[in-house]
Amino acid sequence: MYVCLCKGISDRHLRQSVEDGSHSWRQVQRETGCGTQCGKCACVGKQIVREAIHEK
Ligand code: FES
Repeated sequence: MYVCLCKGISDRHLRQSVEDGSHSWRQVQRETGCGTQCGKCACVGKQIVREAIHEK
């Protein structure tokens, strides 16, 4: 599902970024651009990234 409509980022993109070595929400933001425009997706994005880091 799409998390970030501004940047066209899905939850899979976020998980992939964690898989590829990002270990913080900030880092995922830098890698994907998620949450860097309107910011509405930041809350959900952060949660997904937190879960993905936890599952690693
Ligand atoms: Fe992600 Fe706007 S929906 S920055």
